[in-house]
Amino acid sequence: MSSTEQTLSIIKPDAVERNLSEKIKEEFKKNGFNIFKEKKIKLEKNEAEKFYQVHQSKPFYNDLCSYLSSGPIIVMILERENAILENRELMGATDPTKAKEGTIRKKYGISIDKNSVHGSDSPDNAKIEIDFFFKD
Ligand code: CMP
Repeated sequence: MSSTEQTLSIIKPDAVERNLSEKIKEEFKKNGFNIFKEKKIKLEKNEAEKFYQVHQSKPFYNDLCSYLSSGPIIVMILERENAILENRELMGATDPTKAKEGTIRKKYGISIDKNSVHGSDSPDNAKIEIDFFFKD
């Protein structure tokens, strides 16, 4: 039996700034994802800190939050069967230099920080992240 799953995707400031949003959205659509909801926003630093709070203890946390709040981003709810894992496959490894050929981060990522896209890593986090951006 198959069922549709949702995941949260972000097109990060480096990709929005380079006008890659439409190309990246096409990648999702080509790979069977429906963009159920989307909005373009700019986070304040404290909002980025809240979004990435699971990384609070990491040495890169402060830079990560400054970066995510440095410019407009596009947040989306993506839907398809097995969306969370399929999106992670499509994005590729966190570090673009280690990402497989054909993945979004390999094609468009600049560095481990400016890696163009974020995607939820588990069903629990998908729910938390979707609620973070789309709860009315
Ligand atoms: P993302 O999937 O958005 O989740 C956390 C982000 O931290 C990650 O993508 C990277 O852009 C960023 N990051 C920066 N340095 C590191 C690192 N050393 N290991 C993992 N993620 C890192």
